[in-house]
Amino acid sequence: MSAKPFHLAWFGAGGFGVKSWNKTWSGNGGEDWTDPQLWIDTARALERACFDYIIIEDSSYVPDAYGGNSKAYLASATATPKLDPTVLAPVMAHLTDRIGIVPTLSITEYHPYMLARKINTLDHMSKGRTGWNVVTSSSHRAAQNYGKDLLEEHDLRYDMADEFFDLACRLWDSWDADAVVNDRELGMWADFEKVHLVNFEGKFYKSRGPLNGSRSPQGHPVFTQAGGSPRGTAFASRTANSIISGVEGGVEGMKKFRDDIRAQATGWGRDPDDCKVLFMASPVLGETDAEAQEKRARQKAFSESHPELGLLHLSRHSGIDFSQFPIDEPIPDTAKTNGHQQMLAQAIGKTPREFLQKTQGAVEFVGTPDTVAAQMDEVMQEVGGDGFLISNFDLNRRYISEVTDGLVPALQHRGLVRTEYAHETFRDNLLEF
Ligand SMILES: Cc1cc2nc3c(=O)[nH]c(=O)nc-3n(C[C@H](O)[C@H](O)[C@H](O)COP(=O)(O)O)c2cc1C
Repeated sequence: MSAKPFHLAWFGAGGFGVKSWNKTWSGNGGEDWTDPQLWIDTARALERACFDYIIIEDSSYVPDAYGGNSKAYLASATATPKLDPTVLAPVMAHLTDRIGIVPTLSITEYHPYMLARKINTLDHMSKGRTGWNVVTSSSHRAAQNYGKDLLEEHDLRYDMADEFFDLACRLWDSWDADAVVNDRELGMWADFEKVHLVNFEGKFYKSRGPLNGSRSPQGHPVFTQAGGSPRGTAFASRTANSIISGVEGGVEGMKKFRDDIRAQATGWGRDPDDCKVLFMASPVLGETDAEAQEKRARQKAFSESHPELGLLHLSRHSGIDFSQFPIDEPIPDTAKTNGHQQMLAQAIGKTPREFLQKTQGAVEFVGTPDTVAAQMDEVMQEVGGDGFLISNFDLNRRYISEVTDGLVPALQHRGLVRTEYAHETFRDNLLEF
């Protein structure tokens, strides 16, 4: 491997939902989306390509931000339906051996004890390959499904997340690593002196503890986090083992973001190398560079002729009805959100049509696998590390194969990514380089 290998992870956009049901290579996605087989096939293919992890995105509401009702969301299967990722994750874990499995769970929808227990169970079942994508939710609709009138204010949610995280960690630590003795002669399975009360009483949460499950192989799951606002990056740099970033601004923007995260992590007393920043990327791959460019041109033409599909996402993430803005006039800087701040900041000043033309991520990667591998190499060298989070809204088996059997071998030939896993657990593999 070269001096600077990097990590690869996969973002399962749209969660356990309908995938590109009406596109050319989507199989029978409109009908068989409830079958976990696509996720199993994806996880196995990514594992063959030695990816670090796969995230199952999630949210738990039927959106109605665009146009004030759910018609367009349901008609296009955009961001809905979504089945529960914590039910899918163990199936994927059971049928793989090395890849990290990362369900998304929201701190505003769970109690810390319930979440700590689920994740502890999954880490046992996966033999130390569990992660938690820590989110705070971004829609009042989600809060209303859980009995609240409104979602808490943006920065307050991160204050809650800080406390939630601390309590969950206390619960995971409530069993010492050697608490299970399993000695038949002594007649002792677990030593009660090594299982501790937690008695946590914070501003938002309270729990007695201990957890009623023994310490799992990793103890704590691998934490992934995507906060992009100042308050979001403060939380992420304190807690995350891997930050997934949708930052814009080309290579410069990526480098600035990573440098900032590393400085903040250092400020929290952490080793910044324990917090891998993975940048969203959606490579467009072809047999030739020209074919890949044509594909990208077709994607752009499609989003140009179907602006509503992009606006559905922008509306639900921000809670702002983007059907009210003329498509060719700049989005006013008076637009405010209690949802995704980073995304809205990226949209302000652009016209909706311009905003929708952008690729996912800071840099566009288009070409043959070898061309894209060279581009990724160059970008990572300038940014300084740590890797990419590959994402594609139109997930299908053909695209997965383009990445795992085209792009990844090209990256491997250049010594840029691993060719085998060195360790058993997710965290050990993530911290390998
Ligand atoms: C790559 C990526 C993945 C995300 N996945 C989820 C998710 O699965 N569920 C969710 O509610 N929010 C998700 N988010 C949103 C983040 O948790 C966060 O709310 C968003 O980045 C805005 O953060 P900010 O307000 O601190 O800028 C994701 C964001 C990014 C960039």
